[in-house]
Amino acid sequence: MSSHKIILDCDPGHDDAMAILLALGNPSVELLAVTTVVGNQTLEKVTHNARALLEFAGARHIPIAAGCPRPLVRDIQNAAEVHGISGLDGTHLPEPTLPLDKRHAVDLIIDTLKAHPAKTVTLVPIGGLTNIALAVRKAPEIVELVKEIVLMGGGYHTGNRSAVAEFNIAIDPEAAHIVFNEKWPLTMVGLDLTHQAKPTDAIMAKIAALNTPISRFVVESLNYYTAGYRQRNGYSDHAPVHDPCAVAYVIDSSMIETCKAPVDIELQGTLTLGMTVTDFRAQAPADCHTQVATKLNNQRLWEMFIDALKRLDK
Ligand code: BDR
Ligand code: CA
Repeated sequence: MSSHKIILDCDPGHDDAMAILLALGNPSVELLAVTTVVGNQTLEKVTHNARALLEFAGARHIPIAAGCPRPLVRDIQNAAEVHGISGLDGTHLPEPTLPLDKRHAVDLIIDTLKAHPAKTVTLVPIGGLTNIALAVRKAPEIVELVKEIVLMGGGYHTGNRSAVAEFNIAIDPEAAHIVFNEKWPLTMVGLDLTHQAKPTDAIMAKIAALNTPISRFVVESLNYYTAGYRQRNGYSDHAPVHDPCAVAYVIDSSMIETCKAPVDIELQGTLTLGMTVTDFRAQAPADCHTQVATKLNNQRLWEMFIDALKRLDK
């Protein structure tokens, strides 16, 4: 089976937690490093959560480093209304003892890319893009080293932080502007795609039936997350689980359809700040380095996720 070397840059967060478990449990993924960034909660809280998750899933060998405690230019905004005060409200993970890597996340990202042959490592950011923007400013040569950036963020038809801006882009639009404008291959797994990633009652029952410590954590986490969506957005479905979609695309790109299109980040708009402006007017130019995810095979996503949970069985 081919192996997918990835660095996961995250802000756990309920759906980040699902992305981490998918990456840890899928046999084709080699998770080289986990880095954290301010986002769903403070840097301190999301780093604590990431350490707790890795330890809980038996992955003490993976280096984990804390990154930026605030966006490049703007004030901190978090998503406590979605993920709670701790960032993982509703769950009960043991206190972690796993030590942090001494390096800043930006340095762990750069060092890890340099330690592997060029174009073999995929960067998977599933939070704000602050660390990735700083990494490419500090070491511009990583543009040539990265295989691909596959990020959860943005959307071409919708937003969630505003009518047109998605949370991960809206919290640090300047960082997103840097990342989308570097010439590395970039796949935007945005809200148009991730809103298709909802578990059904039957899928939730299958996860619950595994009845392992990890599956019980997943049920607690997704139940809390869905209850919030139902309360805030008048949902009757289960909430869309955004972040694992980016990991799933790296594992098996055939389950997600994409379309090449130029994407840029709005930095000036009074109503549209942080919009991922996607140009579908004509066929994308030959040198277009960005593509957007459009259609998900949701059944396969959840089969892949449940398979990963079974492999992480404790
Ligand atoms: C994104 O925002 C965060 O709250 C989630 O973790 C996800 O990365 C969805 O807009
Ligand atoms: Ca996230």
